[in-house]
Amino acid sequence: MKHVFQKGSNDRVLLLLHGTGGTEHDLLPLADSIDPDASVLSVRGNVLENGMPRFFRRLAEGVFDEEDLVFRTNELNEFLAQAARDYGFNRNKVVAIGYSNGANIAASLLFHLKDSLKGAILHHPMVPRRGIELPDLTGTPVFITAGKNDPICPAKETDDLAALLAGAGAETDVHWEMNGHMLTATEVRAAAQWFKTHLA
Ligand code: MLT
Repeated sequence: MKHVFQKGSNDRVLLLLHGTGGTEHDLLPLADSIDPDASVLSVRGNVLENGMPRFFRRLAEGVFDEEDLVFRTNELNEFLAQAARDYGFNRNKVVAIGYSNGANIAASLLFHLKDSLKGAILHHPMVPRRGIELPDLTGTPVFITAGKNDPICPAKETDDLAALLAGAGAETDVHWEMNGHMLTATEVRAAAQWFKTHLA
């Protein structure tokens, strides 16, 4: 997969996953806010929707192509294993930071593949898939940020996602903003604070 890798001075690895229409360069500034000494692996989604990169196909806004979601989730997981070998980082130290579609594929890793992430910061995610049993997520901290007025990720999606993750044992925290779908500086600061106490 197209990506940027930056070697850090501690053993943590931040996996950056952009929103629809983004690239591997979009979220690089977030890594500096969250853990400036960590290695960074920022990936571009392999799917194109009208020229816009995404991490998996959707049938309509908010309606995901589940078969492609599962295929792309496994593809990303295999890419992570290969990148760990190529760059010599510890595969077990990968923490995802995703926004929107990138948060959804990160949530999908948590939903489908045990021990795929050490933790996750999900900015404006949705429930990636319903009606499946999640792996045991005990010991996996997850921070969700959401907007009360987000038309793309309605508040109920956030509540449902938090409940599903917590039900699987993940230590789940939710940060609400009175905003829409955009990623704000205050939620990035909240994520940085949360990261310090849960993953640093
Ligand atoms: C998606 O994965 O489709 C997101 O929730 C919405 C978007 O990326 O526009």
